[in-house]
Amino acid sequence: MDKIVIWGGERLKGEVLISGAKNAALPILVSSLLTEGWNTFRNVPDLRDIKTVKKLLNHMGARCRTQSPGTIQINSENIACCEAPYELVKTMRASILVLGPLVARLGQARVSLPGGCAIGARPVNLHINALERMGAEIFLADGYLEAKAKRLKGARIYFDISTVTGTENIMMAACLADGETTLENAAKEPEIVNLAEVLNGMGARVSGAGTDVIRIEGVDKLHPVEADIIPDRIEAGTFIIAAGITAGDVVVRGCVPGHLDALIKKLTDTGMEITPVEDGLRAIGHKGIRSVDVMTLPYPGFPTDLQAQIMAYLTVARGSSLISETVFENRFMHVSELQRMGANIKVQGGNAVVKGVSGLRGAPVMATDLRASASLILAGLAARGRTDLSRVYHIDRGYEQIEKKLSGLGARISRVRE
Ligand code: EPZ
Repeated sequence: MDKIVIWGGERLKGEVLISGAKNAALPILVSSLLTEGWNTFRNVPDLRDIKTVKKLLNHMGARCRTQSPGTIQINSENIACCEAPYELVKTMRASILVLGPLVARLGQARVSLPGGCAIGARPVNLHINALERMGAEIFLADGYLEAKAKRLKGARIYFDISTVTGTENIMMAACLADGETTLENAAKEPEIVNLAEVLNGMGARVSGAGTDVIRIEGVDKLHPVEADIIPDRIEAGTFIIAAGITAGDVVVRGCVPGHLDALIKKLTDTGMEITPVEDGLRAIGHKGIRSVDVMTLPYPGFPTDLQAQIMAYLTVARGSSLISETVFENRFMHVSELQRMGANIKVQGGNAVVKGVSGLRGAPVMATDLRASASLILAGLAARGRTDLSRVYHIDRGYEQIEKKLSGLGARISRVRE
């Protein structure tokens, strides 16, 4: 197993290029199941989760090929198997995204029920209820969701909780349903808008993506498409925070500033200077970080996927910050590791009070989930001395060559075999 070793104290300087968004690429690659023929997707990040979704599509009989670095072609003409096996689903919960497209395309699906994960129980009841409202029969057998439907029917769906992959799953299924489907209280993330653009490029009729109500007029068939994956706003946010925590000066190239409003507002309140530049943002950090309160919310609120990262940053702010995690029930796994580095954090239910300390000290720490790993890397960049982060396979799920990108900004960081 690899580990990442960081010697803290360097102020990051220079420019970093942001990769394509993991959480846009995953549903978009899966959407190829709705078509026959070669789809071409550009700006696909090279991540563990992308490898997993390609394995999953291959398992079903789809063909995947890399046309050039970052450009993937997928042909689902001959999908024969409608199964997403436990071995693959347990490594990536987002595999649930094949459920809707398989039922829509093949009339059946057998998808392993994704278990919980470090950050929460992660139920998929909203995905299931919505498909049942569209006429699918779904039951659980031996840990698998068995679903079938002659042809899905358009329906009016209301999501009790705005669910990102739930919205994506049903939006894809509805494209081939008979009649119109409306999704109310739909998730509004930029990745949903990206997916809707791709589906419309395939000949679907999706409107309202990015708002609370998405309308999908079912069609009989979809055709392959050429499309681009949007930049990863969570990776971009992570690098902006890296500039802040090291009092550095970094140009984050290739990101979409409009996708980061909530983060930029919060970081500006702490004293960072974040300004738009050509094709990105410039982020300047200063010593003497001011504390702020943060509450995670569905987009356009502060992203839960940046909560661990901003917590690392606030551990060395002046004063106390209250961080409220409202999206997931157990997304503070990074707290105990940050405490090992000298952070002063108290957790009470979904709230964490972070009392700023003058500085962190490097230590051996362990990654528990993808964004917790990013948080510990950020803490290591600011800490005095050496930090060893183990279980880096977590970070490789969602960040493309993070240690190379950080080294390019002057960080003393390397990946070593444990
Ligand atoms: C997506 O997960 C992202 N993953 C997550 O990113 C992200 O943290 C999350 O959205 C929230 O923004 C992908 O896009 C692949 P949800 P998802 O359904 O869709 C509850 C990362 O680090 N819920 O929006 O699984 C759920 O428990 C990952 O890249 C139900 O109760 O999240 C949670 O409390 C981590 N029933 C809330 O809704 C359901 O059927 C929001 O979850 C579905 C969800």
